Amino acid sequence: MKKMDIPISFEEKIINCFGEPGKEWLQSLDEKVHSIADNWGLKVEGPVSNLSYNYVLNVIDGNNIPYILKIGLPGFDFENEIRTLQLYDGKGCARLVIADAEQGALLLEKLQPGTMLSTEPDERVVIENFCHVWKQIRRPLPKDGDFPTVLHWAKAFSRYHSNYPENDGPIPNEWVKMAVDYLHEIQQTSLESELLHGDLHHENILYSAEQGWLAIDPKGVGGSPYFDVVSFMINHLFTKPDPKALLKLRVDLISETLQLEREQLLKAAVSMTTLYACWSVEDKDPDWDKTFQCAKWFHEFL
Ligand SMILES: Nc1ncnc2c1ncn2[C@@H]1O[C@H](COP(=O)(O)OP(=O)(O)O)[C@@H](O)[C@H]1O
Ligand SMILES: [Mg+2]
Repeated sequence: MKKMDIPISFEEKIINCFGEPGKEWLQSLDEKVHSIADNWGLKVEGPVSNLSYNYVLNVIDGNNIPYILKIGLPGFDFENEIRTLQLYDGKGCARLVIADAEQGALLLEKLQPGTMLSTEPDERVVIENFCHVWKQIRRPLPKDGDFPTVLHWAKAFSRYHSNYPENDGPIPNEWVKMAVDYLHEIQQTSLESELLHGDLHHENILYSAEQGWLAIDPKGVGGSPYFDVVSFMINHLFTKPDPKALLKLRVDLISETLQLEREQLLKAAVSMTTLYACWSVEDKDPDWDKTFQCAKWFHEFL
């Protein structure tokens, strides 16, 4: 059988992030893709061009209907994506067709043309579309669900402290402490916790000719809805002529359009962006400093 196209940059990313289990997963990936495709009656066309931490492929079924097959490391995060997709039920988010949590595989309706929000040149239009999708995917947090909350995510702050007890890490410990305080403040004083998408940025918002702009790739986490605008605000910034001014425009327009209180929005942004920066340091992502720069700008805007 023909070997799949698995880019080296993808393999490196997986190994940096997941270590030995990532290496083992990569070794069996080719075989896994083919056995899942066989089981589900699919023909593999090839991976998408913007792979990150999952192997995402274009496939077609026996009637030439296109789908997206997503294969990831089996485990809690993958199960959680499945749970969240089931809860969205194809409204505001691409529809889940079949899933196999044990194998770490899921099949999605393919959004067509599937243009990413990052391709739209007019930043005001981008923000408007983002706000539209954000509103479509508001859902109450199921009481008996297994969803993590942002407080679980915040354990990354404690891990950061224990990795750098001498305050010798790239992010000062006092800053991390402030991020922890803001996160708790927003959780306690802002809007009630909901089910958040958790990673609603430009590459996770696609255009469907039939349904308009829709989300994909939800992480599924309970928390204040303020947290669900942060991943978008810091994305696609440093390739633009004036990143700081663009960040401010996003803050202004989002708080106005979604009627989110500006100070709370900024505190949520400082805490969540610092959390992302801690994750980036853990994952050995060389761009951690750009993320941290955004946290500093949000703080300046406060
Ligand atoms: N349902 C879909 N329809 C069309 N394209 C998709 C769909 N799901 C994913 N893609 C494409 O694959 C890319 C990666 O998928 P995604 O689920 O975001 O994976 P990851 O979790 O690795 O970020 C997306 O940015 C998009 O280009
Ligand atoms: Mg994605």
